[in-house]
Amino acid sequence: MADEMKIPAPRPLEYQPKALVIGASSGIGAALMPALAAQGYIVAGVARRQSELAAVCAAVNDKWPGRAHPFVHDVTDYAAAPALFQEIAHYLNGLDLVVYVAGVMPPVAANEYEFSKDRLMVEVNLLGAMAWLDQAAIRFERDRRGHIVGIGSIAGDRGRRGNPAYHASKAGLHTYLESLRNRLSQRGVTVTTIKPGMVQTQMLEHVDKKMWPVSATDAAAQIVAAVGQRRQTVYIPARWRFVSLVIRHLPSIIFRRLNL
Ligand SMILES: NC(=O)c1ccc[n+]([C@@H]2O[C@H](COP(=O)([O-])OP(=O)(O)OC[C@H]3O[C@@H](n4cnc5c(N)ncnc54)[C@H](OP(=O)(O)O)[C@@H]3O)[C@@H](O)[C@H]2O)c1
Repeated sequence: MADEMKIPAPRPLEYQPKALVIGASSGIGAALMPALAAQGYIVAGVARRQSELAAVCAAVNDKWPGRAHPFVHDVTDYAAAPALFQEIAHYLNGLDLVVYVAGVMPPVAANEYEFSKDRLMVEVNLLGAMAWLDQAAIRFERDRRGHIVGIGSIAGDRGRRGNPAYHASKAGLHTYLESLRNRLSQRGVTVTTIKPGMVQTQMLEHVDKKMWPVSATDAAAQIVAAVGQRRQTVYIPARWRFVSLVIRHLPSIIFRRLNL
């Protein structure tokens, strides 16, 4: 649940935007918390690890008092999402931006088919996103305003050999976000899909070869810029857009022979 730190009162005539980051205790989500606070947002962060989440919020509040608020939650507890979403919106006294960052990518060997790992990736990366972003869609559609952001991956642009369930969970997330965009853009709501390449976080600790890695802070800055510009789909770094364009258009017979 949230700490008892008070939300600062806005200055007269100043609009104070409110954001919710799901998956805020480490990596990209943790970097997004100060990046959004620096833009003037009051931010609620959601994750399971209470002490990491509290430390992220404390660091933000040291610099911008009252701007970050932790809510401990496991996104696979789908039934709890609607009530917690309402609680957070009420606590913040509004909501302008919802960013779903939570994700898992356990190491999977080239010859491994382990359903428990596959299920976890779909549960966190896709079903958790639906549980939270459905709530955001209901609220923003009603209000005819708001911004939804989902963190997908370059890995969801094609079914590669590496980690079938991870690729599938991100491909599913991309399609879900595109559908939300097609529904909600006519109702004044923006939906942004972020597709990072490689970001230096805990998630990549078991990955040896890293191509064009960026820091979590850089990734967060690019996500905040994409929010400001109301972009639809953003690759991080941008050069992945061209790589993806080629990869997506390679015929299967060729793609299968490449060790991607
Ligand atoms: N790093 C990369 O190269 C890369 C590239 C492309 C896309 N992405 C995507 O970027 C997103 C962030 O990943 P990251 O690299 O920043 O990794 P990370 O440091 O491992 O962060 C993952 C975040 O997800 C949260 N999370 C995981 N399971 C959860 C659960 N059951 N309930 C609530 N929160 C949960 C974690 O919080 P708790 O553990 O405290 O719950 C943590 O805050 C993921 O969706 C990932 O797929 C990463």
